[in-house]
Amino acid sequence: PLVTTGELVGWAAGARSAVAAFNIITLEHVEAVIAGAESAGAPVVLQVSENAVKFRYGRLLPLARAAVAAAEHADVPVALHLDHVQSADLLRQAPEAGFSSVMYDAARLSYADNLAATRAAADWAHAQGLWIEAELGQIGGKAGLPALDAHAPGARTDPDQAHDFVAGTEVDALAVAIGSAHAMTTRTATLDHGLLKRLSAALTVPLVLHGSSGVPDDGLVAAVAGGIAKVNVGTALNAAMTGAVRDFLATHPEAVDSRKYLSVGRDAMAREVARIIGVLGGARSG
Ligand code: G3H
Ligand code: ZN
Repeated sequence: PLVTTGELVGWAAGARSAVAAFNIITLEHVEAVIAGAESAGAPVVLQVSENAVKFRYGRLLPLARAAVAAAEHADVPVALHLDHVQSADLLRQAPEAGFSSVMYDAARLSYADNLAATRAAADWAHAQGLWIEAELGQIGGKAGLPALDAHAPGARTDPDQAHDFVAGTEVDALAVAIGSAHAMTTRTATLDHGLLKRLSAALTVPLVLHGSSGVPDDGLVAAVAGGIAKVNVGTALNAAMTGAVRDFLATHPEAVDSRKYLSVGRDAMAREVARIIGVLGGARSG
């Protein structure tokens, strides 16, 4: 069934666990994430990023309608989340498209401008009944932005500033920069678990890990133990799908029917979804 992101993250935080949130781009992603979550027997968040909307010729509704229909017929609770939104126009499409939550991303702005823009987005979101996540500090590896030195000033989330930011914006969750980066194809990110501990102590809202594809299993387990309640994964699914499709096409040069390779790619994605949920399911904080 279709549920809200606020419910799923609330359950996870209450259980000192984490819900997995996977980025969806195609209908095969939608089907794979739900199949993987069903086989793991766990709830899941489907998230559509602003970049994915750009890929879909700028249109949110076709993929959103498919995701809503798939969620309604799923055997596990599924929520829909709009991810890394910078455009006010896209933000405003969330309720009609069936999304219960948004991540408003103004992390590229100065602290004061991030605070003001996020405050305005949160006021609007809450008036619509939406749950809202924001980012403080800068998680690297975003498309279209210069590569970021994770050790540069302002790149990591400062606990005192985060406390003031959450109080000033009233966001429901905070994406924290603790050493992960987006779009990593090796699982070599080293998280700053000491910083995560200080952020958990300074904040009462659930914390969100982005760029989780680059984090090894033991790093994910430690992050959940340290207070991460939502784990965002995108690249790992694309790597699973693309690898499987590449292998299939290399060994089946005669293949023409797109279902032949898409089903192989979709199955590989579903297995990776179930594997990651299993890693998170084995983790408990406190
Ligand atoms: O918001 C989406 C995530 O941060 C995904 O990051 O593609 O590096 O796993 P990833
Ligand atoms: Zn992200």
